[in-house]
Amino acid sequence: MATVKLLTQKTLRNGPSSFPLFLRERRLLFNSLRAFSSTGVLSPPSTAVVYDQHGPPDAVTRIAQLPPVEIKEDDVCVRMLASPINPSDINRIEGVYPIRPPVPAVAGYEGVGEVHCVGSGVKGLSPGDWVIPSPPSAGMWQTYVVKEKSVWHKIDKRIPIEYAATVIVNPLSALRMLEDFVDLKSGDSIVQNGATSMVGRCIIQLARDRGIHTINIIRDRPGSDEVKEKLKKLGADEVFSEKELEVKNVKDLVNLPEPSLGLNCVGGNAASLVLKFLRQGGTMVTYGGMSKRPVTVSTASFIFKELSLRGFWLQKWLGSDKAKECRVMIDYLLALISEGKLTYDVELAPFEDFHTALDKSLGKLGSQPKQVLKF
Ligand SMILES: NC(=O)c1ccc[n+]([C@@H]2O[C@H](COP(=O)([O-])OP(=O)(O)OC[C@H]3O[C@@H](n4cnc5c(N)ncnc54)[C@H](OP(=O)(O)O)[C@@H]3O)[C@@H](O)[C@H]2O)c1
Repeated sequence: MATVKLLTQKTLRNGPSSFPLFLRERRLLFNSLRAFSSTGVLSPPSTAVVYDQHGPPDAVTRIAQLPPVEIKEDDVCVRMLASPINPSDINRIEGVYPIRPPVPAVAGYEGVGEVHCVGSGVKGLSPGDWVIPSPPSAGMWQTYVVKEKSVWHKIDKRIPIEYAATVIVNPLSALRMLEDFVDLKSGDSIVQNGATSMVGRCIIQLARDRGIHTINIIRDRPGSDEVKEKLKKLGADEVFSEKELEVKNVKDLVNLPEPSLGLNCVGGNAASLVLKFLRQGGTMVTYGGMSKRPVTVSTASFIFKELSLRGFWLQKWLGSDKAKECRVMIDYLLALISEGKLTYDVELAPFEDFHTALDKSLGKLGSQPKQVLKF
């Protein structure tokens, strides 16, 4: 076996751990070298966000130098350009997500990169091409990722990296939720909370593109008037803060058809407000739980209003037959982005500033745009 030098850099921030630093590094080295053979071509070493145990992300993540890995016949080595910090990445590190890689693990799940080199059996991808993992794949918060060719989807290099890096998890979820639950027609309305989220912004624009009206709920926060204006510019018909909806009949506040679909990103009171807007027989789809509060439904809503409660999980959808067209949908979303029909606020954060970007994503610095790590 060839000798590979482990480039160990002391961590920027070490979390509490039950075993010493050098043991962690050795486990990572072992994982990286498991498949190594003396004839293999090696990737460059990679700088990665690693966690050795589950827990609060700001405590358990650290920056580590990982050794080169073998690039096998069907592998593609990608130099990562950008990758977002999504709420589900945080949940995976916390250990509360239903599917999570075994620890120690490199964090991150979607992103965009440039092909650095390819294995001898790879056709259709060359150095310099831009690719995204589709479906998303674990271990994206690092400078070099090696995965089989089948993981990667080639995209147009003219897409801004912050959009290329974020096109799957949130925009695709928004698209599926608009299409898979209620048969919506032009002129219909929907209602959603968490309208400032990336999913929420995508819902507004995809709905507008289909002639569907949106009633949007945001949380009470500093700068909410400015936020409302921004959402209206994206195509939101109505935007209310939760406080503004503390009225006897929320439906009196809007002059739109009663929505048959509600989308719940938040839970708690914000979910109850979505239910209040729904028409008889309407459906609320829960896809996020940002407030960490449960969804409560009155008995009367079930009996007299015949509401339906459903859930959406992109990961499950990606495992279904329908997901065969996933890449077609991604290309459709990328085309909308190119045409300026799908926009959202993100902040590109230099990888060196990872811990600041993480703190922003954890809400420690108030409401912030989605953080996208730039490698
Ligand atoms: N089920 C699925 O398959 C699926 C797929 C994609 C996303 N999601 C979920 O969708 C949700 C939104 O994801 P995203 O990436 O679009 O979000 P994002 O762009 O990172 O934005 C976070 C959103 O959460 C709101 N928020 C943060 N803390 C909150 C709190 N304590 N109470 C109420 N609202 C809070 C923020 O409101 P402010 O703007 O006011 O700060 C903002 O709207 C997450 O729960 C995510 O896990 C689920």
